[in-house]
Amino acid sequence: MEQRTIGDVQVSAIGLGGMPMSIEGRPDEGRSIRTIHAALDAGVTLIDTADAYHMYANEVGHNESLIAKALSTYGRDTSGVLVATKGGHLRPGDGSWTVDGSPKHLRAAVDESLKRLGVEAIGLYQFHRPDPTVPYEDSVGVLAELLDAGKIRMAGISNANPEQIRLAQDVLGGRLASVQNQFSPAFRSSEPELELCDELGLAFLPWSPLGGIGRAGELGDRFDAFTVIGASHGVSPQRVCLAWMLTKSPVVVPIPGASRPETIEDSVRAAELTLSADEMAQLNAA
Ligand SMILES: NC(=O)c1ccc[n+]([C@@H]2O[C@H](COP(=O)([O-])OP(=O)(O)OC[C@H]3O[C@@H](n4cnc5c(N)ncnc54)[C@H](OP(=O)(O)O)[C@@H]3O)[C@@H](O)[C@H]2O)c1
Repeated sequence: MEQRTIGDVQVSAIGLGGMPMSIEGRPDEGRSIRTIHAALDAGVTLIDTADAYHMYANEVGHNESLIAKALSTYGRDTSGVLVATKGGHLRPGDGSWTVDGSPKHLRAAVDESLKRLGVEAIGLYQFHRPDPTVPYEDSVGVLAELLDAGKIRMAGISNANPEQIRLAQDVLGGRLASVQNQFSPAFRSSEPELELCDELGLAFLPWSPLGGIGRAGELGDRFDAFTVIGASHGVSPQRVCLAWMLTKSPVVVPIPGASRPETIEDSVRAAELTLSADEMAQLNAA
């Protein structure tokens, strides 16, 4: 598969989002492991997770543990796979998502993620979401500490606006590697952040690139141009969507979620699809 760059690491142009395998509606563990193995078979070398991808209060890090298990049972070398996790979000177990961006929480959270992933250093650690009660520079300052301590190899942020991206780059002394924001045909308001990442040479990881769990299947119904152009290439609208993002900028690395082997197998093939300038114009306007 085509390779893209996050910091100083080469990864597959399409990554795997782990969230659907650990939150509400998740499949049994066997199917999740088969899905992760199918992604690895297809050449995926970026897996996105978070300590908050779990359902019940007593299973923090469900998704990190699942990924660690899938990698250890793969039976082949997985040392080239970048596992990107996050801290700063919490799930109390009632279905809600809360935030804690305090340095105290983030320092403790990274130690737990290290244990669950079974690594000495986390490949990419992302601050999940700004906490309105904590100055942004204090939360991101912990990432700088963790880089210096060697607990994380690369630092990223998520759900950040242009001002926060510039602030994080400053606090990290130019060591910010990536930004992960929501971006899809249905949610395009992250265009300014995507453009800023392109300008600064930061990887941009669109989350919910297909519109999110439970809505990804409707993408072609909601945005006809993706279906029409997909039909002309003999591919799914979802594959066109991911190719559209890849074509927008070389810094884009989509992380479509999956809970079935078939969906990630379809998604990775977006990296093979070439879209013309005319098709890009139609999709941009769709
Ligand atoms: N940073 C953040 O705040 C944040 C927030 C949300 C998500 N994320 C990350 O972003 C990742 C992706 O977002 P998401 O999972 O919410 O939404 P998504 O990627 O837009 O949609 C996921 C759903 O798309 C389906 N799908 C995947 N490829 C497909 C294809 N080629 N054709 C048809 N359906 C396809 C999957 O179905 P099956 O389940 O049937 O396989 C899956 O349930 C997450 O997994 C997570 O890692 C980050």
